[in-house]
Amino acid sequence: MAQEAIEEVRGWLAEAPHIAVLTGAGMSAESGIATFRDALTGLWARFDPQRLASPEGFAADPALVWDWYASRRAGVMAAKPNAGHRALADFERRHPGRLHVVTQNVDDLHQRAGSENVIRLHGDILEDRWFDACRRHARGGNVCDPSWAEPGSPPACADCGNRVRPGVVWFGEALPVAALEAAEQLARRCAVMLVIGTSGAVHPAAGLAYTARRAGAKVVIVNPQLSELDPLALRRLQGTAAALLPLLLAEEPLAA
Ligand code: OAD
Repeated sequence: MAQEAIEEVRGWLAEAPHIAVLTGAGMSAESGIATFRDALTGLWARFDPQRLASPEGFAADPALVWDWYASRRAGVMAAKPNAGHRALADFERRHPGRLHVVTQNVDDLHQRAGSENVIRLHGDILEDRWFDACRRHARGGNVCDPSWAEPGSPPACADCGNRVRPGVVWFGEALPVAALEAAEQLARRCAVMLVIGTSGAVHPAAGLAYTARRAGAKVVIVNPQLSELDPLALRRLQGTAAALLPLLLAEEPLAA
């Protein structure tokens, strides 16, 4: 990795009033969480997203989907933030209000590293929610809490049979509106956008990099491989999140 490119990006970050960081599965790869589209190790190379990550898939076989997410949840809980997560959190702590993370990841590793300004576009794998709208609520009562559900695979409401599902965004579902709006605002106002560990294949998340570029931001990509967002990057830093983010963001850069 050319030292000059790192120094150049460090200069941009030092001067930027606002930095947006768009992260994807590669951000957590060095914490031991599988990505989706890496050729051999990616989840979608081994599992069918339509069966495991869509409302139709859950309706067809709720136990299969629940159990698959249960094993992914266990992986997330066992994982620890890596040096890349820590570098982002440390920068945010040293420069309050200047750096915001927008993540496609459903793990909580940014938060556990100490990042506070994190927008989650694709939900939270550790959260439970109802699959159907709560029927008691529809009859004028309070919404039942998913934690009241009878244990099972998946847990279900003892009253109406409604099933619990993981709090992630599945294929065919809309992103949370407030999160997407907040992320678009950040993309429009940032001077630098760091795009870390995403293939750029999934919209609208990937579109945030286009928004930032159109609004005049310097887009910098950190990825060991090529990505669909490369054509709009001002710099492509080829390497991993845990190796490069400390070099880019530490107060005193570590030796390259
Ligand atoms: P992908 O699996 O599509 O892409 C992961 C990217 O991370 C690839 O470009 C890899 O080259 C890169 N990568 C791998 N290891 C890395 C490392 N150590 N450091 C930096 N980069 C590395 O994952 P996403 O782009 O996040 O949707 O996928 C987008 C969405 O598709 C996900 O949020 C998920 C999935 O279906 C939902 O869960 C809704």
